[in-house]
Amino acid sequence: LKAIILAGGFGTRLRPLSCTRPKQLFPIANRPLLDWILEGLSKSGVTEVILAVNYMADVLQRYFGNYRYEMKIMYSRETKPLGTGGPIKNAEKILKADGKFFILNGDVLTNIQYSNLEKNHAKYRKKYNSTLTITLYEVEDPSRFGVVEIGPTNRIYRFVEKPKLGEEPSKLINAGAYLTEPEIIDYIPSDKCSIERDVFPSLAQKGKMYGFKHEGLWIDIGKPDDFVKANFSVMDIIAKDKPKIGIDTQLSSGVKIIPPAIVGNEVKVGQGTHIGPYVTIGDNVSIGNGCKISHSILFNNSWVDSYSSINGAIVGEGAVVGQWVKIENNCILGDYAVISDNVTFTKGVSVCPSKEVGESILEPKQVM
Ligand code: GTP
Repeated sequence: LKAIILAGGFGTRLRPLSCTRPKQLFPIANRPLLDWILEGLSKSGVTEVILAVNYMADVLQRYFGNYRYEMKIMYSRETKPLGTGGPIKNAEKILKADGKFFILNGDVLTNIQYSNLEKNHAKYRKKYNSTLTITLYEVEDPSRFGVVEIGPTNRIYRFVEKPKLGEEPSKLINAGAYLTEPEIIDYIPSDKCSIERDVFPSLAQKGKMYGFKHEGLWIDIGKPDDFVKANFSVMDIIAKDKPKIGIDTQLSSGVKIIPPAIVGNEVKVGQGTHIGPYVTIGDNVSIGNGCKISHSILFNNSWVDSYSSINGAIVGEGAVVGQWVKIENNCILGDYAVISDNVTFTKGVSVCPSKEVGESILEPKQVM
């Protein structure tokens, strides 16, 4: 079986971190999101993956190469962004050759059983001659997602993208994982289009679309708080009672690591520093003495000097935080940002990559 993964978006809502990396390389428990997705597909018997790429295509191609998790990886490159529908048409030649295939959004952390999606699709195809089976996930507030109206046989009667509050047909949303017959390509109206707005409503109207409900892990990492939530969820699964510590990591005396917490490889932590709960520290990170870090994600190669505290923040790759710095509540430091000694950021401060900041900022602000 083949799968095409949409991996070409700009990830504008994840700026400044997405200025320097595509969403698929955002770390979830110190491992790129796309690795989690690829591993799940491989376990479900997929043997060939097409990555539909545009933004930072070279970076993705260099990182993932041509073979991973026993699957052949191919790249369908776009010369301009084609949305979420266009990339399927763009890869038509590879996709149409041998029957049904998976389509996945490349920005979702989930444990969807793709083999069950396939089984359900086979059932609906046989019984109702359907074209596509969409994975559905129940959420409390569906208004920022694609929402379906579904019947007793799991036929989708209606698909509404981002309905107005109070006008949602159900709480079942598009989980961004589909199994489709190649005939879907005939429903794609133009080279650049949205599968959610331009394809699904007409498939639903023609009775060609069925639903498969997923219950389990599902987080779309589109916004910083969702990206953080995805990391916390994985910490809850793999490092809940005992912190996960990498190799060649040096913890000085008096260091306390409160689970759930994940510390990468070759990390240095100074005396008396407290880490956790809900902290992921990347590889080759250096943290000084007497620091306090909780509910935060520190990317690889970042550097935090002594007596600083970081709570509820994201520190980008190679970012440098001085001594006695306080960073709190949804602040984000872009890659290689530099924060001087004694600076305080209280909430929602977002610092662009490589930017140096020498003064405290006590209100939400983007530092360009
Ligand atoms: P925002 O700019 O923050 O909305 O993010 P995004 O550009 O990634 O858009 P969105 O979250 O709607 O994308 C859903 C999925 O489709 C993600 O996996 C994107 O990588 C992918 N995607 C979005 N636009 C394109 C595109 O033009 N080409 C390809 N190949 N994939 C895309």
